[in-house]
Amino acid sequence: MRVLSGIQPSGALHIGNYFGAIRQYVALQDGNEAFYFVANYHALTSVRDAGQLRGYVFDVVVDLLSLGLDPDRATLFVQSDVPETTELAWLLTTVTPMGWLEKCVSYKDKVQQGLPAEHGLFAYPVLQAADILLYDADVVPVGQDQKQHLEVTRDIAERFNNVYGGGGEVFRLPKPYILDAVSVVPGLDGRKMSKSYNNTIEIFDDPETVRKKCKKIKTDSTPVEAPKDPDTCPLFGLYRLFAAGDELADVERRYREGGVGYGEMKTRLADAIIARFAGPRERRAEWVAHPARVAEVRAAAAERARKTARIVLDRARAACGAD
Ligand code: TRP
Repeated sequence: MRVLSGIQPSGALHIGNYFGAIRQYVALQDGNEAFYFVANYHALTSVRDAGQLRGYVFDVVVDLLSLGLDPDRATLFVQSDVPETTELAWLLTTVTPMGWLEKCVSYKDKVQQGLPAEHGLFAYPVLQAADILLYDADVVPVGQDQKQHLEVTRDIAERFNNVYGGGGEVFRLPKPYILDAVSVVPGLDGRKMSKSYNNTIEIFDDPETVRKKCKKIKTDSTPVEAPKDPDTCPLFGLYRLFAAGDELADVERRYREGGVGYGEMKTRLADAIIARFAGPRERRAEWVAHPARVAEVRAAAAERARKTARIVLDRARAACGAD
């Protein structure tokens, strides 16, 4: 299967991103042909500082490499390194009814949150369709919030196929793969971990910051001796993601019986987070110290991505007579 997904560069990745998506991206590079890219053209709809955008892109590439994406197995590229993307986006735009974009909730949400109602934001799903269709992707792993964009992608592909395919298939129809199994990673305040709630623990926070944030996790006033319910406690919910086997079973049992206090749990959680990301943290420091190597990975991936992209773009251009 050919797997493809994109990540918007918008600052440091947090633990919710890791369990909600990145972990699956890493798993899917085995046994599949995987393409992952940093969606910096999409980010232009919200980031308006060149230096900041460059920094975000570098950080996402380095974060993904450090967390286990293997540039020999997966193609990890940057969207703007593949100019075929915006070329295809125009071809798709010409067959996209306004109404399909008007009904997209993410546009409406973002405008309501205060982003200017610009055309790029409105046409965002068309660029996303180009990202996906350009690689004949079979499967697109994304969070629930991207489901509508994938439906629009399929609609656009079908429409183009109908208008220009002459009964044949210009674009392959991708299947969504909704990553919601572990999407409920609780944040510091008990709500879903999300940048917009300002309740995140970053994957590459230094150990001291991890400890400080864990201490801030919201808990109730149940005393140490009292039994606690691990299934409804956000602190335990986070711990469960990091612990396993006997240790998890043991702490869970003691939690239910009473005798484990929130202070102890917070220390356990911080230790577990720090231990889990110790390897990636070291690898990240290596990459950051060698930006030329990062640039090499990026260039090689772009070349690979463009080879595939070229074939599909040529097919689309020929189908509509723009060749
Ligand atoms: N819109 C996606 C998000 O915000 C990012 C994205 C852009 C994407 N292009 C894509 C995801 C193509 C999957 C496939 O998360």
